[in-house]
Amino acid sequence: MKPPVKSRISLLALFIIGISLLHYLTPLQLPFLHDIFQRLYYLPIILAALWFGFRGGLACSLAVSIVYAPHILFQWGGHLTMEMEKYLEIVLYNIVGGITGLLAQRERERSIELQKTAEGLEESYKKLQEQSERILAIEEQLRRAEKLSTLGEMAAVLAHEIRNPLGSIRGTAEILRDDFKPGDPKYEFIEIQIKETERLNRVVEDFLRMARPQPGEIKVCSVMEELDTIVTLVAKDARKRQVKLSLESCPERPEVRGDGEKLRQAFLNIVINALQAAPAGGSVTITTSRTDSGYEIRFSDNGPGIDAGTQSRIFEPFFTTKPDGTGLGLAITKKIIEGHGGKLEVVSKAGQGTTVIVSLPVLDEGEKA
Ligand SMILES: Nc1ncnc2c1ncn2[C@@H]1O[C@H](COP(=O)(O)OP(=O)(O)OP(=O)(O)O)[C@@H](O)[C@H]1O
Ligand SMILES: [Mg+2]
Repeated sequence: MKPPVKSRISLLALFIIGISLLHYLTPLQLPFLHDIFQRLYYLPIILAALWFGFRGGLACSLAVSIVYAPHILFQWGGHLTMEMEKYLEIVLYNIVGGITGLLAQRERERSIELQKTAEGLEESYKKLQEQSERILAIEEQLRRAEKLSTLGEMAAVLAHEIRNPLGSIRGTAEILRDDFKPGDPKYEFIEIQIKETERLNRVVEDFLRMARPQPGEIKVCSVMEELDTIVTLVAKDARKRQVKLSLESCPERPEVRGDGEKLRQAFLNIVINALQAAPAGGSVTITTSRTDSGYEIRFSDNGPGIDAGTQSRIFEPFFTTKPDGTGLGLAITKKIIEGHGGKLEVVSKAGQGTTVIVSLPVLDEGEKA
């Protein structure tokens, strides 16, 4: 740490004045002392050169020359050899001041350059590190994508391998069922067997759809029409559960751009969940409305609701609280709705029923044609 410029200059001035006073006040009869004082001038000169470079060194040696010269001229004048020697010393002061200043300056410039190079290197190192981190992250993503695609391929193979024997099991079960009359316990067992094979088939198909989303047919479809179809589809099930299912039609007949079949599948998953949740004597209500950005379809039930802990997991594939659930319903539904540029939201509190809100973007006027 160098002292501030001002104090450095003051120190140099003090040095020069001090040494000069020694010269002026020491009697000439003590020439050896004058010799020592003469050399002392090198101290401020070299210091000035080190601190302020070429100009500083030279300025200091000139200042020394100016204050020292009268002493030679007026006090030593007459001792010719001594005088000459001292004038020579003045020349040396200036040479030493200039050269030391020059060298110090060069040294300083080089160290600044080195510092800049070091800073540049550090920056490059940082950039390199960032890049390598990015590469690592991309590699990780690639690895995950690869895993997923391998999983998708495995699922396809597995689905194929499982579906065929399932078909045979179902076919033979149906043949066997014909041998018994409804009401016969064996008939019921075979019914269960058929239903279970159907469920297994659905699980495999759902899984396949999750792992490998098939591009559907995109066209303009009417939300109300799909909802009507669903209500018809599940009406019998609702009656069996003694749940009142109602669809409040919307005067606007919302239309969206998408794959009608997939949307129907998404709505169906939500409605089935609602029907399963509603108690006997309860109700499931579907309403549609126009919002600022699109259409909102609300599926409300007065079932037990979903507590916060469960709610954070309901979109996870395979998360289910039902003994015969697959836990894929809402995961698939979310994927479908988001694939249509929409949003899926679940509003629920334990004991207060559940409302599932689907928001879909509205169709531009031009798109309807
Ligand atoms: N309307 C609802 N009321 C209460 N809980 C619900 C409702 N909808 C979903 N849930 C909860 O979310 C979980 C996940 O639902 P999801 O539809 O994904 O799977 P699932 O119904 O259990 O099985 P799957 O639909 O595949 O037969 C359900 O197990 C249930 O706990
Ligand atoms: Mg479900």
